[in-house]
Amino acid sequence: MGAKKKAEIICRCNNVSRETIEKAILDGARTMNEIFDATSAGVGPCGGSCRRKLAPLLQHYLDTGSFPEKIVEDLSVKSKKD
Ligand code: FES
Repeated sequence: MGAKKKAEIICRCNNVSRETIEKAILDGARTMNEIFDATSAGVGPCGGSCRRKLAPLLQHYLDTGSFPEKIVEDLSVKSKKD
């Protein structure tokens, strides 16, 4: 994967990159809550709109053991403000 993709900011509230999130998963985060705790992504003032990207990224890893080339947002994932 290119450096540009790794540097993609997933959580704009807390400025958390895809690289940081992937590293947390590789380090053992296996649930959304563990990702929130490890990276601070998903718990910013917007109420968690980036969870729509975090969830499919984590799920893809759990299903396949690797990260997707492109993150397809899961619009069924609710942020706290929905
Ligand atoms: S963008 Fe991640 S919590 Fe707002």
